[in-house]
Amino acid sequence: MNQKEILNKVKIWVKEIHENENNGHDFFHVQRVVNNTKNICEQLPCNAFYAELLAWLHDVGDYKLHNGSDQTQEMVSRVLADCGFPQDEIEVVVSDVKKISFKGGFNEKSKKVEVLIVQDADRLDAIGAIGIARAFAYGGSKNSPLYEPQKTYEEIKSEEEYKNSESSTIQHFYDKLLQLKNRMNTAVAKEIAIKRHAFMLRFLEVFYDEWNGRS
Ligand code: ADP
Ligand code: NI
Repeated sequence: MNQKEILNKVKIWVKEIHENENNGHDFFHVQRVVNNTKNICEQLPCNAFYAELLAWLHDVGDYKLHNGSDQTQEMVSRVLADCGFPQDEIEVVVSDVKKISFKGGFNEKSKKVEVLIVQDADRLDAIGAIGIARAFAYGGSKNSPLYEPQKTYEEIKSEEEYKNSESSTIQHFYDKLLQLKNRMNTAVAKEIAIKRHAFMLRFLEVFYDEWNGRS
C-alpha cells in the first residue's frame, strides 16, 4: 500500500470506531484534528504523512470509547497490521499516539515534531467556540452541573484526579481549557490559540454577568 492508500484505509476504519460517539470524541472531532494537523504541517518541516496518520489514530483507543479502559495498543495494532506495517513500526506508532492526549497534562512529553503537531491540533479543538460546545456536551453526558458558584477552586494534581473529576463544566475551563494556550508546542498553533483563548474569556465574562443578573 502507498501512503495515500494507508491514510484512506485508516480513515474508513477510524470512522467506524467513532461513529456512535457523541460526547466530544465523534468523527467530526477527528476530522477537525486532521485538518488542524495539515494546516500546521504546511508551515513546519515535518513528515506530513506520519503526522496525519497519528491524527487519524489519536483517539481510537481512548478509554472513554471503550468502557473506561485504554485500548490504544489493541486498536492501533489491528489497523496498522491490516495495512502491512511491521511490528516494530506499530510499536513506535502506539507509543507516539499515547503521548498525544491531554490527560490533565500529566503524561510523558514527546520530542517528536509530528507528535507535538497533533497534540496542538487536538488541543486547538478543545478551545474556542468548538471547545466550549464540546465541554458542555461532555458535561451533559456526565450529568455535570453547568456551574457551582459556592465551590472554591481546587487544583487538580494527578491524571487520576483529572479522569475522575465530577466538577462543573465551568470548572473544566480552569482545569484544562484556559491552560492550553500556554501549552501549545508550535508557534502556528499558539497564534490560533490566542484568539480562541480570548473568546473563552469573553464567554466566561458574559456567563458570570448573566448568572449574577448583571446583564
Ligand atoms: P484528551 O483526549 O486530550 O485527554 P479529554 O478526553 O480530556 O481530552 O477531553 C475530550 C473533550 O471533552 C474535550 O473537549 C474536553 O475539554 C472535554 N472534557 C473532558 N473532561 C471534561 C469535564 N470534566 N467537563 C467538561 N468537558 C470535559
Ligand atoms: Ni482528540
